[in-house]
Amino acid sequence: RDINILAISGSLRKQSTNTLLMQAMIELAPSVLNFQVYDQLNDLAHFNPDLDVDDGPVAVQHLRSQLKQADGVLVCTPEYGNGIPGVLKNALDWIVSSGEWMNKPTVVVAASPSPLGGDKAHASILLTLNMINAHILYDASFTIPHITMKMNKQGEVIDPDTKKALRNSLLHLAEVLTIEKK
Ligand code: FNR
Repeated sequence: RDINILAISGSLRKQSTNTLLMQAMIELAPSVLNFQVYDQLNDLAHFNPDLDVDDGPVAVQHLRSQLKQADGVLVCTPEYGNGIPGVLKNALDWIVSSGEWMNKPTVVVAASPSPLGGDKAHASILLTLNMINAHILYDASFTIPHITMKMNKQGEVIDPDTKKALRNSLLHLAEVLTIEKK
């Protein structure tokens, strides 16, 4: 039986390294994982509890239903100004009260050209995911410093160690979900 993973890139940029990385991870994943890419961060209104009446805005309903249908989540995010992109935090803010992310096995990878790898964004999103009771797979989540040296412009992961780490991360996600689904 297929396992559904919602894949989210925190970058809106067309040539985003994190979006390319997310796509590379989808390619590297074991076939038991079936990916749905969520690419509508830009459609979400700025979080405002006043808008969260009835079922909330249509784009928010869509995000919530995509999360609800997912067995697990993969997030690839850049770091901006030592934090996560506002659009990604905005999406998380919409989920705090509705809880669709609760208990979902979640892998988070932060990629950056900097030697620090977006470690502050990584730590920050884990704090928020922890608050919304996501099942964070800490062992499968990490930062990738110097991403531009490890992935080429076509989005191929050219560094063997990085490729191995990404593959292992996805194997771990699949393993956790396979056990859960039994
Ligand atoms: C950055 N970048 C960055 N990188 C980092 O590691 N820590 C940071 O705090 C920041 N801050 C930051 C602010 C602004 C305004 C920009 C434009 C960039 C660099 C960032 O990691 C780089 O642009 C990545 O390529 C962005 O990710 P995507 O879009 O390639 O996925």
